Amino acid sequence: MNHYENKLLNNMPDSIFSVMSKLALKHDAVNLGQGFPDFDGPLWLMEEAFAAMKSGKNQYAPSPGILSLRRAVCDYHKKFYDLDWNPDDNVTITAGATEAIYSTIKAFVSPGDEVIMFEPFYDAHQLDTILCGGIPKYVTLSKPDFSFDFNELEALVSDKTKLLIINSPHNPTGKVYSLEELEFIAKLAIKHDFLVMSDEVYEFITFDDARHIPIATVPCMADRTITISSAGKTFSMTGWKIGFTIASKTLTESIRKIHQWTVFAVNTPAQHAVATAFGRLDDYLPDFQAMYLKKRDLINDLLIKTDFKPHKPAGSYFLMADIPANKYQDDMDCAMKLVENNKLAIIPPSVFYGKSEEGKTILRFCFAKNDETIKKGIENLMNLV
Ligand SMILES: Cc1ncc(COP(=O)(O)O)c(C=O)c1O
Repeated sequence: MNHYENKLLNNMPDSIFSVMSKLALKHDAVNLGQGFPDFDGPLWLMEEAFAAMKSGKNQYAPSPGILSLRRAVCDYHKKFYDLDWNPDDNVTITAGATEAIYSTIKAFVSPGDEVIMFEPFYDAHQLDTILCGGIPKYVTLSKPDFSFDFNELEALVSDKTKLLIINSPHNPTGKVYSLEELEFIAKLAIKHDFLVMSDEVYEFITFDDARHIPIATVPCMADRTITISSAGKTFSMTGWKIGFTIASKTLTESIRKIHQWTVFAVNTPAQHAVATAFGRLDDYLPDFQAMYLKKRDLINDLLIKTDFKPHKPAGSYFLMADIPANKYQDDMDCAMKLVENNKLAIIPPSVFYGKSEEGKTILRFCFAKNDETIKKGIENLMNLV
């Protein structure tokens, strides 16, 4: 190791998404791996962005984000969740949820602090924790319903616990945390005085009778929760990278320090467009939700006919399916064979586990894809060689 190398970067893997996408290109495979839509968000939203550009909204935005967008975020949190936030003190617009995650972890996690997270985790939750010198501690979400053992969680809490991370609706399992689970987490957070970072980027993608509950709505949690979401998922514009954090004034001050000295400010015209879009959620959401319900049912029904048994998700645009027993060594072996032999790229989720071996028995499918892409992908899967 050279003296200028940062040892935190040793063993930091290439993202599995880049690895699988490169392989998808190489083998000309259908890509049900990458976690973003292969279709555009609404045209009116693009027109809003262009209108903002034409009216001179092209220079730096204020560091915390433009006021109208921060206000729109507060308004929809009031309307959908009855939460009272104010744009000046509580909301920070970030470069996607990705920056929100980094700025939050960097703001509160110091070297040696422990961070509890549920596995399978979203990779940035783990790697940002490590980048900040924090120590990840894992609670397993176990098949078939991806629930967790309350005792296992409680046993992980120590006097070094600084932060607990949840993601609901959950990537990659499609789990939507229940009120009982959230209340248990809240009870521990209050008793042991740690913060909760709640990644809610799939907040509007829930199915059947599943209901998204922000943990900030649980009594006494608003002041110790950092809620994160992203317009990228809600409006199918992941490339716009407009996300945000919502937190108490004190917590927001710390997050804004990191945001100011890393990103400073986020794309101005896209902020203007998204401010309008959050004001139109009532009109927009029914079709958006119906579209994902149809796609969830399509992929689930197709997979039932294969040897890969789906765990029907309650939320998000991901689905986990069991790998047929005795056919493959593990998820990595299966994913490599599928991309090479079947021209289907899928994510092997064992990389999202730090403790359990359960990830080796499943694969993650993304159904934020055109129906034809989903059908072609599962058709390729059925042509097993
Ligand atoms: C759970 C979760 N959090 C955060 C992100 C990143 O969001 P953004 O694209 O807004 O940076 C993703 C994207 O896949 C995600 O699945």
